[in-house]
Amino acid sequence: MTLLIQNGEIVTSEKRYTADILVEGETITQIGERLAVPDGAEVIDASGKYVFPGFIDPHVHIHLPFMGTFAKDTHATGSQAALIGGTTTYIEMLAPAGSDDLMDAWHLWTGMAEGNSACDYSFHIGVTAWNDSTEGYLRELVAGGMTSFKVFLAYKGAFGIEDAALFKTLTLAKELGVVVTAHCENAELVSQLQAKLLSEGKTGPEWHEPSRPEQVEADGTAHFATFLEMTGAEGYVVHLSNAKALNAALDAKARGVNLHIESVIPHFVLDKTFAERPGVEGAKHVMSPPLRDKSNHAALWAALERGEIDTVATDHCPFDVAQKHMGDGNFTLIPNGIPAIEDRVNLLYTYGVSRGSLTLHRFVDAASTRTAKIFGLYPKKGEIAVGSDADLVIYDPAYRGTISAATSHVNNDYSGFEGFAIDGRPSVVTVRGQVAVRDGAFVGEPGRGQLLRRVPHRSGA
Ligand code: URP
Ligand code: ZN
Ligand code: ZN
Repeated sequence: MTLLIQNGEIVTSEKRYTADILVEGETITQIGERLAVPDGAEVIDASGKYVFPGFIDPHVHIHLPFMGTFAKDTHATGSQAALIGGTTTYIEMLAPAGSDDLMDAWHLWTGMAEGNSACDYSFHIGVTAWNDSTEGYLRELVAGGMTSFKVFLAYKGAFGIEDAALFKTLTLAKELGVVVTAHCENAELVSQLQAKLLSEGKTGPEWHEPSRPEQVEADGTAHFATFLEMTGAEGYVVHLSNAKALNAALDAKARGVNLHIESVIPHFVLDKTFAERPGVEGAKHVMSPPLRDKSNHAALWAALERGEIDTVATDHCPFDVAQKHMGDGNFTLIPNGIPAIEDRVNLLYTYGVSRGSLTLHRFVDAASTRTAKIFGLYPKKGEIAVGSDADLVIYDPAYRGTISAATSHVNNDYSGFEGFAIDGRPSVVTVRGQVAVRDGAFVGEPGRGQLLRRVPHRSGA
């Protein structure tokens, strides 16, 4: 298969220029002006459009047993929705519960994705506890290319990790040169505050945010950073939501802690008033860390532009309206999470670039290139260069539309962004040289996605 993409404005994290891109097989083989059309090539006219490297979402939940139920997407539905939104690779949280065998979980998660995901994909390996087999399993998985771990400093009694296991995990991560991603909230404070609010009869979704306030996330962030400092490991805070937690992370970086910062698209465009809507309307917007006061938006956007926030992911985690009703009368039972995999790129482009002051380069960097660098995918992914995988997003900035569950491809019956306007969308998306999306429709090969085996950043001590 040969593709020639003509006259697009190529935008990478560093460069912006108009040229043609030749794709042969799965790879970009030439970039230049007025390239000859090879016999039999499909020609795509990208005049008036941007050509971005395929976007990478480093924080999604597809298969997720959580809070007594399961997230709604399958790898087929989630990956096709991702592609329609311009995401060509995702990294899923492989999240066994504390008592589950890690290798059983590995076989379960990979078995579900294989032959079903249309995107390329990889996994962060969840570490919830430390037993006799943990270290051996982790060494084996890292040797097999899964070069990042995931820990939860929250969700006591489910995924939450104790400090002793956290220390051992980080010590091993340092030795192996892998990145440890972390959900940072003080689990004990969350439990105590939840119990206090419920005892006061405060049961609705509007109490979710007060049960895990900004300080609780800042405390979790500082705690994780201290453990990184003591072990020398490389860390990555996931879904950072507010200025206090940001300051805790930046303080740690200033004293030399090796820490990356991720935020997720809901925290840039939604605020806690969405979760304060009565009943299930509020429950639709319950996630952790919670949606915050709108005053945090300016700080997050500014930190993103400065590159202090490294990446923008989704924390895609869809539960439908019936599942959200599980928390009627008790906000602690509302399954946490919202869908966003299809909307991240369009929302970041619209409210960052088109209507905000985010530069196109930082947009590409935060949603693709830097993610690829942090997680050992670069330059195969996250770049437009000869030799890189031909994962390309031909983006139409003239498109105007509105997000709605009715037109969304995620396997869910509501959208947390219902009615949000978008100022652009992918018109063509390719994955390793094959066209997967045209004008909002999946036209690719279901199940063609490959498991991406990654490389550690550096050899350990
Ligand atoms: O509310 C959220 N974030 N749900 C998914 C689980 C997690 O914490 O990432
Ligand atoms: Zn989390
Ligand atoms: Zn998550």
